[in-house]
Amino acid sequence: MGEPAEAGSEELVLAFLAEAGDEFVSGEAISDKLGLSRAAVWKHVNALRRHGYRIDAVAARGYRLREIPDRLTALELRPLLATHDLGQVLHCHEELASTNDFAKMLAEEGAAHGEAVIAERQTAGRGRRGRAWLSPPLKNLYLSVVLRPDLPPHRASELTLVASVALCEVIREAGVAAGIKWPNDILVGGRKVAGILTEMAAEPDAVHWVVLGVGVNLNARPEDFPDDLRSRVTSLAAERGQPVPRALFAAALLTRLEEWIDRHADEGFEPVRNAWRELSVTLGRRLEAQADGRAVEGVAEDVDASGALLLRTATGVVRIVAGDVQILPAR
Ligand code: BTN
Repeated sequence: MGEPAEAGSEELVLAFLAEAGDEFVSGEAISDKLGLSRAAVWKHVNALRRHGYRIDAVAARGYRLREIPDRLTALELRPLLATHDLGQVLHCHEELASTNDFAKMLAEEGAAHGEAVIAERQTAGRGRRGRAWLSPPLKNLYLSVVLRPDLPPHRASELTLVASVALCEVIREAGVAAGIKWPNDILVGGRKVAGILTEMAAEPDAVHWVVLGVGVNLNARPEDFPDDLRSRVTSLAAERGQPVPRALFAAALLTRLEEWIDRHADEGFEPVRNAWRELSVTLGRRLEAQADGRAVEGVAEDVDASGALLLRTATGVVRIVAGDVQILPAR
C-alpha cells in the first residue's frame, strides 16, 4: 500500500466476481474474459483470499464472492467506483499524519484532478480553525481529493458547499437523517458526524489546486471519543445501529462528489445552493455568529450567491462569510 494503484489482474478478477453479485462465475468465463489461464485465475483467487476476501469455489459451478474485508485499499474501492476522475488514482495508506497534508504535497508535485488520498489512521488529523480531528484507526473514513477546478479564486469556496451537499446526501442514503450546519458541518440530532476541510493554492486570477478533505465517523463507538467530545459527536453506526461497509461508503461518496462537481461546473452555484438549502439544519434557526470580530445574534435567513450566511439581526441583515455559528435554543 502507499503507491498509486493501477488495475492489475487480481483486481480484474475481483471486479468480475463483484459484478456477478451472488451468482457463481465459472473459471472458464473469467479466463476467457480476462485472457488469463485457468491456473492464473486460481492463483488470483487465492491471493484475494489471503487479503481477507471470502470466495467460494465449487466444482462445476465456479467462484462466488461471499464477503469483502473491511479495508480501504484500491482493491476494495476500484470495483465499486463509478467515476471518470475522482479516485481513479488512489493513494491508500495505513497511516498518515494528515491526508490533507499528503494531498497538498501531491498537488504541489503536479497531481491530476481527482487523485484521492485515504488513510486508515491519521496521527495529526486536522479540522477547521486549527482544531484536531480525532482519527481512530480502521473505523472511519479519512479522505482527501485533489481538485483542479476551472474557477476564479473568489468562487473556490463554493466547492465546500458542493462537498457538504454530496456528503449529506450519501449519509442520508446510508439511512441516517443528517443535515448541514453552516458552513459545512454534518450533524445528526445536533451531534457532529462528519466535517470538511478545504484548502487551496491560487494566484489572483487562477486556482492552482483545491484539496477537499473529508472526515466521516462511520463505525467509531462512543468510547473511541474522549469524554469531553462524547456528547457532541456521533457516528453512522451508532445512529443506525449497524456497521457501515466503509469501501461502499467511500466509493458512493467519491461518485456523488464527482456528480455534484460536474453539475457545479456545468450549471454554476445555483443548483448547489438550492440543494444546500434543502439539507440545511441552520436556516430558520436562531444563531450566534462572529462578524468583524464581534458576536452577533439573529435568525439564519439564507445563503447568498457566494455561500455566505445571511443573518437577520435586530438591526438588519448581516453577512457571515467565515467562522463557526452556534445554534441557540428557540425562544
Ligand atoms: C472540521 O469539521 O473541522 C473539518 C474536519 C476535516 C477532517 C478531515 S479527515 C481527512 C482530512 N485530513 C485532515 O487532516 N483533515 C481532513
